Amino acid sequence: MVLPIARLLMLMRRGSGKDLSTTKKQCVMVTNNFIDVYADTHIRSSVGMIAEAIRLTDSGSAAVLGCGRCGEIPVRLLNETFELVDLVDIDREALAAVDEQCKKWDEEKNSYQVHCTDLTGMIARVERRASELVAKTVDPVACLEQLGVLLESTAPEFWAPPRGERYDLLVCSMVLTQLQALVRESVEKIYLGRFPEYAPAMLKHKSWCESVWNFARNLEDDFIEHLGTLIKPQGIVYLSETVHVSWLTQLDEQSVSTEGRWITLRTSRLTDYLRPGDTIIKEQHWDWLREDKEGDFCGRLYGVQAVIYRVS
Ligand SMILES: C[S@@+](CC[C@H](N)C(=O)[O-])C[C@H]1O[C@@H](n2cnc3c(N)ncnc32)[C@H](O)[C@@H]1O
Repeated sequence: MVLPIARLLMLMRRGSGKDLSTTKKQCVMVTNNFIDVYADTHIRSSVGMIAEAIRLTDSGSAAVLGCGRCGEIPVRLLNETFELVDLVDIDREALAAVDEQCKKWDEEKNSYQVHCTDLTGMIARVERRASELVAKTVDPVACLEQLGVLLESTAPEFWAPPRGERYDLLVCSMVLTQLQALVRESVEKIYLGRFPEYAPAMLKHKSWCESVWNFARNLEDDFIEHLGTLIKPQGIVYLSETVHVSWLTQLDEQSVSTEGRWITLRTSRLTDYLRPGDTIIKEQHWDWLREDKEGDFCGRLYGVQAVIYRVS
């Protein structure tokens, strides 16, 4: 079926063509690209890939970690296929919305269970310690360094199902980069609650930025390692992430420009996180346009990568 093009974007990429992971450079324009962006590419691709992962498994139990509102997850197919589907997220409202939707289907069986929890097991501990540090500090800059050390030195205690069983299928759709974001934001909120005028300085503070980067990448590695403890031998994992992001500026009705593409992870390939024994079954990537205004920007263009893999 051919879908109408939602938007034909002319992406005028200002950049060296390299991925910029930490520094924002002003560069010259080197290429003009036309990109076809369909309104539903993201949801269709995501649902299609997860449906393939479900077919490879076909029975037993599954978990969706960071399920949110299941906007990109075929939750009904999961419910039909598996005897147990654990839906896990920290967002109580999102889980309530999913629960309500599932009840409306009035299926013969309801395999799903919702779990409102912090997947990292870090947020409450980090918040408590950050509040103590911020309350007793006299030097906002030194405090930022201490908060960086706190992030780097607090070990995650990842969620595991109360029953202790292992799953046949794990779905981790767009959660990998969000784990670190939520923990970091909880610390930033506490700090900026006391020192709001330090918001711009915080973005440039060298040791804080380095700590945040190290913390994020280590948490991502640890999370992938943890998946190995949640899944049965030969089990299937679906993992996807917005590996690239470009902030867009509107030029005219059909054209946008961007200063470059940033990598949200350690490298530009999601599968670099996989462990030596993991076997890639399928990889796919697609563009996802989000037209939400953010300051001077008219939206973001994400480069999504998704992988289905089998653990050893
Ligand atoms: C980008 S959204 C995923 C969207 C979802 N896959 C969907 O189909 O709509 C990331 C989700 O991860 C959840 N999340 C982030 N950090 C978390 C944490 N520490 N524990 C549990 N959930 C977390 C967020 O609440 C959010 O719902």
